[in-house]
Amino acid sequence: SRRYPRYTREEVGRHRSPQDRVWVTHGTDVFDVTDFVELHPGGAEKLLLAAGGALEPFWALYAVHNQPHVLELLREFKVGEL
Ligand code: HEM
Repeated sequence: SRRYPRYTREEVGRHRSPQDRVWVTHGTDVFDVTDFVELHPGGAEKLLLAAGGALEPFWALYAVHNQPHVLELLREFKVGEL
């Protein structure tokens, strides 16, 4: 199991646009999903609502994400931990 760099929520919050990279958190994991923004089945605009912060409040409203294949996809974008 590899070790990941640690980031603060403030650092994650500086990545809120494709220009600055798009980072999100899920639990204590940090993801750079910039390359997924345009591929998101729910549209780039919706994904960007969570940019720089936690996915959980949004995913609580959109239960379509509550499936194993969604977390598997997310895992590929992991860049760090809180
Ligand atoms: C659908 C991933 C963020 C709204 C999906 C699907 C995936 C996905 C894989 C298709 C699921 C399926 O049909 O089996 C992600 C990832 C996100 C993210 C990796 C963040 C990194 C968000 C956010 C919102 C959102 C923040 C809302 C604010 C939606 C909606 C759909 C969807 C509405 C359904 C689209 C449709 O079927 O018409 N997402 N999502 N997503 N997502 Fe996301």
